[in-house]
Amino acid sequence: MPELEQALAEVAAEMTERSDRGDVATYIPQLGKVDPKKFGIAAVTNDGRIILAGDADQPFSIQSVSKVFTLTLALGKVGDALWQRVGREPSGNPFNSIVQLEHESGIPRNPFINAGAIVVSDILLAGHQPREAIGEILRFVQFLADDNTIIIDREVAASERATGYRNFALANYMKSFGNLDHEPELALGVYFHHCAIAMSCRQLAMAGRFLANGGRNPATGLSVVSTERARRTGALMLTCGHYDGSGDFAFRVGIPGKSGVGGGILGIVPGVASLAVWSPGLNENGNSKLGSIALEKLARMMNWSIFAP
Ligand code: DON
Repeated sequence: MPELEQALAEVAAEMTERSDRGDVATYIPQLGKVDPKKFGIAAVTNDGRIILAGDADQPFSIQSVSKVFTLTLALGKVGDALWQRVGREPSGNPFNSIVQLEHESGIPRNPFINAGAIVVSDILLAGHQPREAIGEILRFVQFLADDNTIIIDREVAASERATGYRNFALANYMKSFGNLDHEPELALGVYFHHCAIAMSCRQLAMAGRFLANGGRNPATGLSVVSTERARRTGALMLTCGHYDGSGDFAFRVGIPGKSGVGGGILGIVPGVASLAVWSPGLNENGNSKLGSIALEKLARMMNWSIFAP
C-alpha cells in the first residue's frame, strides 16, 4: 500500500490532467463562473495528519455538503423527533425532485434531498430570526473545522435565491401539508445561506473529523455527537448522500460520502480519516464527476472500504 501523501499526490496529478471533467452547475448563476479546471483533495487522519494536494486550500461553495452539518445540529436540538418530519430512505430521484412529496404527504424521503434539508432548516429556525439560525450554523461549522475564517458567500446565496424557483415550489408544497412551521421564505433564507458556506478541502475535511472518529473530535477528544449518531449519519450519507447516484457511489467507492453541486464531496473512512475533494464539473446526477473518480481511486489504492475485513 502506498503512503497516503503519495496516493493523494498521484490522484491529484491524474485528475488535473483529465479533460473529461463534467459540467459546472449553471442553474445557480454564481456557480457557473467557477473554473472547471480546479481540483483539490484533502485527508485529515484520526491521528492528526493533514495531507493536501492540488487546490486544497481554495474555498468553494459547499452547497449540499452543508446538509450533513445542519442535520447534526438539528438532531442535537430535537433528537429523534426530527424523523417524524423527514424520512430516512434513499429517494432514487434527483435532489430537487417534487414527485414523491405528493404521495408521501409532504414528508421528504431523507434529510439530504433539497426538500428534506429545507425541513431541517425550518427546525433550526425555531425560536430564532433567520440571521440567528444562519449564524448558529456558521459557528457550528467553524467550531467543527477549528477555523473561524470560514464565511458564507452572500453573492452565492443571493444568486440562488434569485433563481430558486424549484426550492420555493418544494417549500410551498410542504407548507401546504403542514410540514413547515415557518413561512417558506424564512426557511429558504436559512437553507440558501447554509448552502452558500464557502470552504476549502482542508476546512471541509477538518469539519468532518468527528464522523470519522465515532462522534468525537480526534484532536481534542471532545464529543460532538454520540457514537450511535455518528454511525447513523454515516449510514445516511452512504444511502442518500449522492441522491439517485448513491448506489453507484457506494458500489464504486465503498465509504459514506456527501456531495454538493459546487463540486465538493465529503468522504468518511470510519476509524481512519475524513476526506474532502473538489472538482467543479458534475456528472449526470449532479455529483462531482472527477471528485467521485478520485475518491474511488484513492479508496482502492489505500484499501479503504466500510466492507473491508
Ligand atoms: O438547493 C440547491 O439546489 C442547492 N443549494 C444545493 C443542491 C446540491 O448541492 C445538490 N448536490 N449535489
